[in-house]
Amino acid sequence: MSSPAQIRWRIAAVSAVTVATVAFHYGFLVPAAQQHGILHEIHGRLCYIPIILGAIWFGVRGGLATALAITLLTLPYPRFRGITDSHALIGEYTEMVFYVAIGLTAGVLIELQRRERRRGEALARELARQERLSSLGQMAAGLAHEIKNPLGSIQGASELLAGEEAADGRRRDLFDILVKESKRLGRVVDHFLGFARPRPLHLGPVDIGALVGRVAAQTEIESSRRDVRVEPRVAAGLPPIQADAEQLHQVLLNVVLNAVEASTSGGVVTVEARREPRGEVALTVADDGAGIAPADLPRVFDPFFTTRERGTGLGLSISHAIVQDHGGTISIESTPGRGTRATILLPASGGGR
Ligand SMILES: Nc1ncnc2c1ncn2[C@@H]1O[C@H](COP(=O)(O)OP(=O)(O)OP(=O)(O)O)[C@@H](O)[C@H]1O
Ligand SMILES: [Mg+2]
Repeated sequence: MSSPAQIRWRIAAVSAVTVATVAFHYGFLVPAAQQHGILHEIHGRLCYIPIILGAIWFGVRGGLATALAITLLTLPYPRFRGITDSHALIGEYTEMVFYVAIGLTAGVLIELQRRERRRGEALARELARQERLSSLGQMAAGLAHEIKNPLGSIQGASELLAGEEAADGRRRDLFDILVKESKRLGRVVDHFLGFARPRPLHLGPVDIGALVGRVAAQTEIESSRRDVRVEPRVAAGLPPIQADAEQLHQVLLNVVLNAVEASTSGGVVTVEARREPRGEVALTVADDGAGIAPADLPRVFDPFFTTRERGTGLGLSISHAIVQDHGGTISIESTPGRGTRATILLPASGGGR
């Protein structure tokens, strides 16, 4: 939308160009223009400039008003110049008809084009809304699916428990199922909420070395159970970056856990942190585990995509959203049977919505 000051300025500009071209026509600016010939021809074309300008800035009304103003102002010209030759007179008046026709045509075309553009923008907004709705629908379907499985187990176990004949050992197994599956349900819902309601970023200086150390220590139990070694490699003198410490910790934990879970006995997971030439910090988590099938690779960031029995498939999609909120990127390369490498690039200044 144009501001009132902009509109005033444009009216003044169109008026000034109109007056200048008309003055030129009458020979007030360049006396030679009084002579019929090439200069007069040029003037005829010059008059189209304010008309087109009027049409561009003010649509049909602008084009027409400018054309009519020029026509009115140049109407006395043949008399002023004492033109009596009927051919020349017809030429002058035809030109005036053209001014009006061009003003009208240019105005209509420009208004049509603007309307088309507005319609395109409205369509794009509608599409984005539909896309959000459809991804929400997909997520809801995924969530329902994730809830149904443990719920089925819980229901089955409860029914058996309610029966008289369950022996003591069997009862314990059934209770185990109840506890395990309820926990899984809780985890699905927690993760889902984390995904559906992204928390605002609390930016502050984050020491990447300390972050890597904390994640390595946290994954110690899981990695030693699998006989996997987590090896931090943090470049010396890495400056702190502006980030949300808790959310970034969640990202690195997700990615390192994925690497540990994909590794087999004796495997090594390296967690490297270094500074990139353009000031970003790169965190690379590499494992020599199972790798990801090429068909699965494009889906690893999709909510609920998982190949693990106990996975929720939300780890990477949440991580992706968090890294994006920081203005960074996360990417995964993998060779089945050889291993996987996840790279997180974070701007030193922290992005943020
Ligand atoms: N380092 C890796 N090696 C092999 N496959 C991986 C690796 N990282 C991710 N994947 C694949 O991507 C899928 C999605 O990962 P994501 O972290 O989103 O969910 P998940 O690990 O299955 O479940 P959750 O993180 O909720 O426990 C995994 O199921 C696995 O198939
Ligand atoms: Mg995971």
